[in-house]
Amino acid sequence: MSTEVDIILRKYKPGRREDLIPLLQEIQDDNGYLSEDTIIKVGAFIGLSTTKIYGLATFYDQFRFVPAGKIQIKICHGTTCFLNGSQAIINKIKEETGLMPGQTGRDGIFSYDIVTCMGGCNNGPVVSVNGEYHPHIKPEQLPELIRKLRYIIEND
Ligand code: FES
Repeated sequence: MSTEVDIILRKYKPGRREDLIPLLQEIQDDNGYLSEDTIIKVGAFIGLSTTKIYGLATFYDQFRFVPAGKIQIKICHGTTCFLNGSQAIINKIKEETGLMPGQTGRDGIFSYDIVTCMGGCNNGPVVSVNGEYHPHIKPEQLPELIRKLRYIIEND
C-alpha cells in the first residue's frame, strides 16, 4: 500500500539532490512535519544519508521535525515587523509558552515558528494563529490571547 510520502515521491526522479528541498517542502505541506521515517525514505530515494538530510533541512528554518500543536502560532520576523517590534513578541511567546521556535509543547496545544514575511508588512508586527492574522500585535496582548486559546482547546 502506498503512503502519502510514496505518492509524492512518484512525482520526482530518484537520485536528484537538487530536488531535496522542494520534495521536503511538499511532504511537509502535506503532512505538517517531517517524521524520521520520512527522512529515511527520502534519503534512500535521493541517495543521501539521513544525517546529511537533517543537516541540510535544519539549515532552512521552515522545516519541522515534530508534529505541530493544535494551535500553530507564526510570528513574522521580517524586516518591517522587526522594525516594528517583533523581537518583543517573540520573547513574550517564549515566556508564555516556554517553547522555542519549531517546538511543540508536551501537551500538544501550542507550537510556534518564526517566519520571514507574511505579506502584511504595513500591519506589523504580525502574528498568525492557525492562519488567522493578528495585525499590530503588542506583547501585552499575548498573555490574554494565549490564555483564551488554551481555554478553547482544553474545553473543546
Ligand atoms: S515583514 Fe512581517 S509581514 Fe512582511
